[in-house]
Amino acid sequence: MYVKKSLVVLCTVLVFSSAAFVDNIPKCSIKDSDCQRQSLQYVIREASKTGIPEVQIAPFDPLELQQGIDIPIQDIVQLHFSDGVVKGLGKCLVNDFVTKIEQGLASLDITCNITVKGHYKANSSSPVIKSLLGGESVHGDGRAKVKIEKLNLKFDFNFYVEKRDGETYFKRKGEKVNYKYDVLGQVQFAADHLYLGERDASELLTNMLNQNWRLVMQSVGNNIMKGAMGTVEKFLRNFYDNIPTKFYITEDLSQYASN
Ligand SMILES: *[C@@H]1O[C@H](CO)[C@@H](O)[C@H](O)[C@H]1NC(C)=O
Ligand SMILES: *[C@@H]1O[C@H](CO)[C@@H](O)[C@H](O)[C@H]1NC(C)=O
Repeated sequence: MYVKKSLVVLCTVLVFSSAAFVDNIPKCSIKDSDCQRQSLQYVIREASKTGIPEVQIAPFDPLELQQGIDIPIQDIVQLHFSDGVVKGLGKCLVNDFVTKIEQGLASLDITCNITVKGHYKANSSSPVIKSLLGGESVHGDGRAKVKIEKLNLKFDFNFYVEKRDGETYFKRKGEKVNYKYDVLGQVQFAADHLYLGERDASELLTNMLNQNWRLVMQSVGNNIMKGAMGTVEKFLRNFYDNIPTKFYITEDLSQYASN
């Protein structure tokens, strides 16, 4: 255990001493929220292109989704989405980032334009669809694209300062991130090879989806966001658990350490 820990420290020192990314993060006073907002904006923009190899953060714009997802739309349509690629995360705009160190609270407000492309399979033999669409079932197998304009995300975190091997770190309390989301722009869908009975009805059906995007998002949005939060949590864990605060906060935060 001890040997393992020393090794980790040694590696951290070695990697960080030759690293460029962490050295270039703009440093801010713990009291200066606007500076921290700009610093986070820098981290998102630059890390999206190069990743932060020293803390196992891979580039994330574009982001290839490793796993397919099943997206049931009520009990009506079975949708499976795979080989997804997400674009736009590096251009997210940080509107607000406030850290209250005494209370151990941080909140983040961010807006993104996002495009997701991939392969989909869909089918429905539900009576609801049949009665809506004149007795026919829907099935499809092809390319799909979803464009979300102005996806606004608000996060709240509880954290504390941990002192470890002479360095201070922000540690999140609990694994889960509290979040809320809203689409301030609109959502556009596109898909090919989508059939109504035997007839290609891609245009007809995607038009229907587009006209009812709010309803569609109400039924599938939560499911998709839950998946997306896994990525956000992993990023936060890798970043804050491994990068000492001295790389982005000017003050010595030892006095706040709770251990
Ligand atoms: C998103 O796109 C809209 C117009 O399509 C643009 O006005 C806005 O600035 C963009 N926002 C971000 C965060 O890129
Ligand atoms: C619809 O798709 C699901 C999941 O891909 C599959 O299990 C089911 O058999 C399909 N149903 C029809 C009627 O094709």
